[in-house]
Amino acid sequence: LANVDLLIVGAGFYGATIAERAAARLGRRVLVIDRRNHIGGNAYTETDAETGIETHRYGAHLFHTSNEAVWRYLRGFTGFSAYRHRGVTLHAGKVYSLPINLGTICQFFGRHFSPDEARALIAEHATEMVGRQPENLEEKAIAMIGRPLYEALVRGYTAKQWQTDPRELPPGIIARLPVRYTFDDAYFTDRFQGQPLDGYTAIFERMLAHPLIETRLGVDFFDLRDEVPRDMPVVFTGPIDRYFDYAEGALGWRTVDFENQVVSTGDFQGVSIMNYADEDVPFTRILEFRHFNPERAYQTEKTLIAREYSRFAGRADEPYYPIGTAADKAMLARYRARAAAEPNVHFGGRLGTYRYLDMHQAVAAALKAFETVFEPMFAGEGSAA
Ligand code: FAD
Ligand code: NA
Repeated sequence: LANVDLLIVGAGFYGATIAERAAARLGRRVLVIDRRNHIGGNAYTETDAETGIETHRYGAHLFHTSNEAVWRYLRGFTGFSAYRHRGVTLHAGKVYSLPINLGTICQFFGRHFSPDEARALIAEHATEMVGRQPENLEEKAIAMIGRPLYEALVRGYTAKQWQTDPRELPPGIIARLPVRYTFDDAYFTDRFQGQPLDGYTAIFERMLAHPLIETRLGVDFFDLRDEVPRDMPVVFTGPIDRYFDYAEGALGWRTVDFENQVVSTGDFQGVSIMNYADEDVPFTRILEFRHFNPERAYQTEKTLIAREYSRFAGRADEPYYPIGTAADKAMLARYRARAAAEPNVHFGGRLGTYRYLDMHQAVAAALKAFETVFEPMFAGEGSAA
């Protein structure tokens, strides 16, 4: 730690972006540590030994952004494929397109609807909510897409995802359930989309390759925090509640268990992600990794799939999705007050701020923190390089 200008805890998108900028733009010596034995955080990808297929260890990662600065920045470390995600969901033996669009509506109700006819139909299916404030997730969903589509495509999936009856979930969990009254079935509408040509991990290898960056893996911050000088700037992208020894309590997260399987076929489901909408199927989705990279010439005898099971996270589990109950929000405010009293520690990323961040949002937030916090902090001190 003696020759380090900046200590970064966590080699995910947030930490790696600040590390790269501080080294490349400011000539600072950066030490990046991660308690895992690999870089990349949750975006980490690796090659499955048995099939040679690239897998996403912590769940399917799809890159999309409308932020041109983020896109330009990441293009400095990778090319992106032409991959465009399309969503499909299985209900009662039939497959429907997601997000709900005119194609879904025509399929589901078994005939042609013009956009105006489809709007009128959904409004009619939502009349029970006219003039009423939704009091739970079910009511809110019915107000947006009507009861039949809700019961078929949303209820079972949501119940599995949260392990809770949607009538017991707060309406605020779903901000919107978009219904598109066109046949546009693109999952994301962002300007820039694609999968990194050499996988996500390669992006991090290139970002951290700068000679002023040292990366140490398998190192937990809490094993060396006593050695960190009081005045050393630290970027902490681990869980904010863990940093303060859970003094205000443990913030609530959901996690996902992945059950991987190699199947003896060249193509298991014909798509990268199949949602399972019905409650009698215990998993929420099946991923088939080869379909994230259709541009690659993978062998055709075997394919790798992963079933996803959603549940509440205990302290030993990987925290994936912040739950954000009213109690969580009050707790977070108390942790933020504690964080404000640690001037040398910058809390960032999805764990450090207890926010769900897409990859592009993590990079955007890190680029902004670099400009507003770290550039001014190091300005005038003179470059160490
Ligand atoms: P992370 O990637 O979590 O990195 C934090 C790092 O800090 C980790 O490597 C961790 O090991 C390390 N760390 C924590 N505590 C310590 C400690 N005490 N000492 C040392 N190191 C520590 N985004 C998209 O844009 N598209 C998607 O399709 C998408 N799919 C997702 C699917 C799932 C299941 C999940 C969970 C996330 C998905 N994301 C997706 C979000 C994406 O993973 C995040 O945007 C990204 O991981 C945020 O980067 P980060 O650096 O903030 O956090
Ligand atoms: Na390096």
